[in-house]
Amino acid sequence: GSSELAGVAALLKAGKARNVVVMVGAGISTSAGIPDFRSPKTGLYANLSRLKLPYAEAVFDIGYFRRRPEAFYTLADELYPGKFRPTVFHSFLALLERKGVLRRVFTQNIDTLEHLAGVPEDKIVWAHGSFAANHCIDCGTEMATATLKAIMDAGKIPHCARCKGLVKPDIVFFGENLPARFFELAPVDTRAADLVIVAGTSLQVHPFADLPNQVSCPRVLFNLERVGDFGRRKTDVTVLADCDTAVRELATLCGWTAELEAMWAKTAMEETKGEAEGEAEG
Ligand code: APR
Repeated sequence: GSSELAGVAALLKAGKARNVVVMVGAGISTSAGIPDFRSPKTGLYANLSRLKLPYAEAVFDIGYFRRRPEAFYTLADELYPGKFRPTVFHSFLALLERKGVLRRVFTQNIDTLEHLAGVPEDKIVWAHGSFAANHCIDCGTEMATATLKAIMDAGKIPHCARCKGLVKPDIVFFGENLPARFFELAPVDTRAADLVIVAGTSLQVHPFADLPNQVSCPRVLFNLERVGDFGRRKTDVTVLADCDTAVRELATLCGWTAELEAMWAKTAMEETKGEAEGEAEG
């Protein structure tokens, strides 16, 4: 509730929270128009019947991908990070960085909106990979994104030039390891954290879901539903609400509203600037 958020704001304003670690999932991007995975009706997994999967998560399972890569590649077009605008929540992460208190953002998302909002790459751990590069799942040879996209646009399945194996973007499938950077930074950052914010995640997928249990500092949840073991610790702050609304409330308590809204407004300018340039050339 908001009274507990006042305590969180006090930590931030008093400079007592200088190593904030944020752990996020698809729920922080739903207001950008990107569906999450498990919300009933609107979640991605509730809308994959056309792919005739044995079960929804099969579309991201490495074993199923080997047998039927068409299922993932049918979806890949929709999944590709496109022209989405960061949310207020993403701008709040950039604001924490500007305030010099952001230690790291661990994200399960592949939409790169944290970076687009202004969080530097060294402050982000893409725990479930990203579309930044593509590799053969057998021999590891890299395939350029332009090459992969051309093959996808031709409605074909990308195969490795070297060994003919299947190629896929570097997003982490079920059955694959998370990036080494996750295992390097998780123990260090969870120990150094003096405030943890968890937002927009069902905490269903391990090992990411274990992160909130590894900290001994105060933990804040911004999520539509209660998840993990939030509420078990008396220091837990649980705000069951839309994450944009929740961070706007926290920003107000910190006296950061004008800064947050200005940063978020700028993310729209980038988008319109792009269109404007288009017109200028038109
Ligand atoms: N504000 C706050 N919470 C929200 C909002 C919102 N606007 N929208 C959705 N949520 C919550 C949902 O209630 C749910 O608890 O965010 C959570 C989203 O959970 P999932 O859809 O399971 O997404 P996520 O936790 O990121 O999934 C983890 O599963 O399929 C794999 O690799 C994929 O990274 C993904 C992983």
